[in-house]
Amino acid sequence: MIYTGKTKLAGVMGLSVSHSRSPRLHGYWLERYGIDGAYLPLAVSEERIAQAIKALPALGFVGCNVTVPHKEKAFAVVDNMEETARRIGAVNTIVVEKNGSLTGSNTDAYGFIANLGDCVGEWRNDQAALVLGAGGAARAILIGLLEAGVPALRLTNRTRSRAEALADELAAGIEVVAWDARSDAVAGCGLVVNTTTLGMVGKEPLEVSLDALDDEAVVADIVYVPLETALLSTARARGLRCVDGLGMLLHQARPSFAAWFGCEPEVDEGLRNFMLADLMP
Ligand code: ATR
Repeated sequence: MIYTGKTKLAGVMGLSVSHSRSPRLHGYWLERYGIDGAYLPLAVSEERIAQAIKALPALGFVGCNVTVPHKEKAFAVVDNMEETARRIGAVNTIVVEKNGSLTGSNTDAYGFIANLGDCVGEWRNDQAALVLGAGGAARAILIGLLEAGVPALRLTNRTRSRAEALADELAAGIEVVAWDARSDAVAGCGLVVNTTTLGMVGKEPLEVSLDALDDEAVVADIVYVPLETALLSTARARGLRCVDGLGMLLHQARPSFAAWFGCEPEVDEGLRNFMLADLMP
């Protein structure tokens, strides 16, 4: 790539960005759409994250993504905040506005819901959903499900107090279920989502029985290495519709790419295969 004086600059700020999938993802779209742009991995220490974000307009950047562990700190640095980011309490996307101010957003909730729609088409949001896990990913997904109008949410986590704190904070009548009762809690749900790290390569599988789920239900996993977790194989063997974690990663990147580079990018088989080629253990 030969950069010009007009190259639009963006990137991802994190502590250790060498494993970030985002440069490959945005790089694919930049090439595919023939955009004079660059998306760089930007390793930034915790002490310097505020300084680095504030320097974006001076450096001529159109914006950046922010990843662990800087998402909460970025929340405090931006000038304007989109509502979903405010609710999630973390910023993963920053856009430098024409007047040089910084707008923070969080596209994780959007990514989850957009991917769900993409994978299962007509997704019925009129049944209960069960979310396993109570970390940052669970928070974004719960907010996405609330915004999508899901009528009842159940939340279960190994450490119950974390699930209770999250349910209280989101204040939406989320029912906290004991971790040991997770297999019973799937009954009557239209959607089950794993947001824990269980099932990830090197971790134990998530043990949950899907027997009580109805045949129309959808099972989603945010783990994407491996793409087909034991949870998804069990669901597939039962003929249930499955949503893997790669799609969420790809879809959450679309709004930021569109805001920075002025082009609505597509998530398709070509992109999935390109990303998968780099995910194989
Ligand atoms: P993130 O912010 O990316 O979601 P996290 O905060 O580390 O990551 O959350 C990881 C989730 O996986 C948590 O819900 C965690 O449960 P705890 O809150 O009890 O730690 C869950 N998790 C990780 N290892 C687990 C295990 N062996 N059994 C059950 N849950 C596990």
